[in-house]
Amino acid sequence: MVNAPGLPEPPFSEIEAWLREHAPPRRRESARAIYELQPSQSNRQLSFVYVPYSPLSEGHWADAARIADYAAAMPAGAARVLDIGPGDGWPSLPLAASRPELDVVGVDPSAVRAAVCTANAARLELANARFAQADAALLPFAAGSFDGAVAASSLEETDSPEAVFAEIARVLRPGGVLRVSYQNWGRLDAPEFETVNLWGGRRRAVSREAGKGERVLVYSYARRVQEPPLERRYTLVLPAGGEAERLHSDALMTAAQAPRAYGETLLEGPWAALGVPLLRRLAPLALDSTVLELRRWTTPWLVAALRAAGFSQARGTAHPGELGRHFARDLLASDGMAEVAPSFEQTVADIGRTALALPGDEMVVAVR
Ligand SMILES: C[S@@+](CC[C@H](N)C(=O)[O-])C[C@H]1O[C@@H](n2cnc3c(N)ncnc32)[C@H](O)[C@@H]1O
Repeated sequence: MVNAPGLPEPPFSEIEAWLREHAPPRRRESARAIYELQPSQSNRQLSFVYVPYSPLSEGHWADAARIADYAAAMPAGAARVLDIGPGDGWPSLPLAASRPELDVVGVDPSAVRAAVCTANAARLELANARFAQADAALLPFAAGSFDGAVAASSLEETDSPEAVFAEIARVLRPGGVLRVSYQNWGRLDAPEFETVNLWGGRRRAVSREAGKGERVLVYSYARRVQEPPLERRYTLVLPAGGEAERLHSDALMTAAQAPRAYGETLLEGPWAALGVPLLRRLAPLALDSTVLELRRWTTPWLVAALRAAGFSQARGTAHPGELGRHFARDLLASDGMAEVAPSFEQTVADIGRTALALPGDEMVVAVR
């Protein structure tokens, strides 16, 4: 249970109530188990890590500006930087490439993710990025041993964020800097919404290496609630092949046409059929049913929590990704891209520095 003590639980949604009755989920205490099932994150579309940057992609301007921002946030003379929850190596790998003088160390509690990151570093020939399997709530590093720390959409995936903030404060030297992006619940534009995500996974039972375990199919239902700020994620693991595969791929085709949020299918209008109606057919085939509840937060909450964990300064800033995306969109609309594309790296570096200096409530920078 990670909900703040004393916060009332929202009543279950129709889908939650159905799942609890017909496919009773085991409660997970950590997001690690979900990330462990993924052979790769983002379907191997992660910019730089799997797909080289293209100035013709708005998303790549956003991603490259975010990396420039992480680089700009590190203190002068920084030598050792920690990446919490790198997934497939983001931001650690592009950061290590853009700042060869840095030694970047990524920690992820999923053995599969740490192995994928290590393989990606080798493929990209980045000798200055290393990865280890470790939980950010219990970092295997000496106090004051890092000059900087970065985290992208990972701190909110931990079940004990305060313990993680205290650990990051411990391993950073005085004057060390933490730069964080996260799912910002201040930006949730509805009191709550529901999404479904369908993907193919691998179970580790056979092998610890990504891509080598037993092939499975995953149905995941997430409910995001503004107040109290939380996300509940239900995961059904299904066998590959047969009826489950047929239902799963039909659902994927339907989901592909639906509106999306957080990269997932929004359960609204005709797509509500991907809720209980689909579950009635999928649940009897499930190999496993779990639920994970994660606390979510707003920027003011994170700023206060980091100060309480021992950071001397913490403040909200603008988001470099949004600045980068808007910049690229304007250029593409005005046919100005051909002129600017050759100076892609310099321009994203400028955008990264701008976001860091611009007060806002999209990302946080904190000084130990
Ligand atoms: C949404 S993914 C983000 C991955 C990557 N940073 C990116 O932006 O593509 C969240 C990552 O946090 C990791 N994670 C979950 N709990 C963690 C913990 N306690 N300590 C460190 N990382 C954790 C997950 O295993 C996963 O790799």
